[in-house]
Amino acid sequence: MLIKPNDLFYGEKYINLSRKELLEKVQTQMSSQRFKHVLGVETAAVELAQRYGVSTEAASIAALTHDYAKERNHGEMHDLIISANLDLELLQYGSEIWHGPVGAILVKKELGIQDADILNAIHYHTVGRPEMSLLEQIIYVADYIEPGRVFPVVSEARKAAETSLAEAVAFETEHTLLHLIGQKRKIYPKTIDTYNTWVAKP
Ligand SMILES: [Fe+2]
Ligand SMILES: [Fe+2]
Repeated sequence: MLIKPNDLFYGEKYINLSRKELLEKVQTQMSSQRFKHVLGVETAAVELAQRYGVSTEAASIAALTHDYAKERNHGEMHDLIISANLDLELLQYGSEIWHGPVGAILVKKELGIQDADILNAIHYHTVGRPEMSLLEQIIYVADYIEPGRVFPVVSEARKAAETSLAEAVAFETEHTLLHLIGQKRKIYPKTIDTYNTWVAKP
């Protein structure tokens, strides 16, 4: 039987908070609309975690915290990119990309999350990377297919995620790039590395 997020009980392996306490802390960081999205990502991630044999607790924590930094002040994010020695090329792009790497730093500092896999899942959820753990793939995909998402190819993406996580990562990467190119937006170069690994034919 499928476990739902509400059934989860956190041990102390990943975080010294109960799920309820974590929900309260996350909620203070964002609008109610975004919080709803985060809960949707958690539902999708916990389901994918069971399908692909990953810790449901890690998936829940990574999903609930993946957008922790999204509504942080622009200046604070900018300063953190510099003080934490993140890729300075990020500064030429927007907070849509920044909130991944910046979020990983903030949840470590403010919520005490130390687990490298969870922190990487948060860090790379915006652009992916060539080598992604199962948890990283799950958060990347869950963010795209959560129940609240409505866009033309979302049902195709959900279908891919039912049979192959790698296929879902490829689908999402391809369609996100197509969308950005369609709008003549700048492409953060590391997104191309993700594309070359997950989508391009050898
Ligand atoms: Fe995000
Ligand atoms: Fe998100």
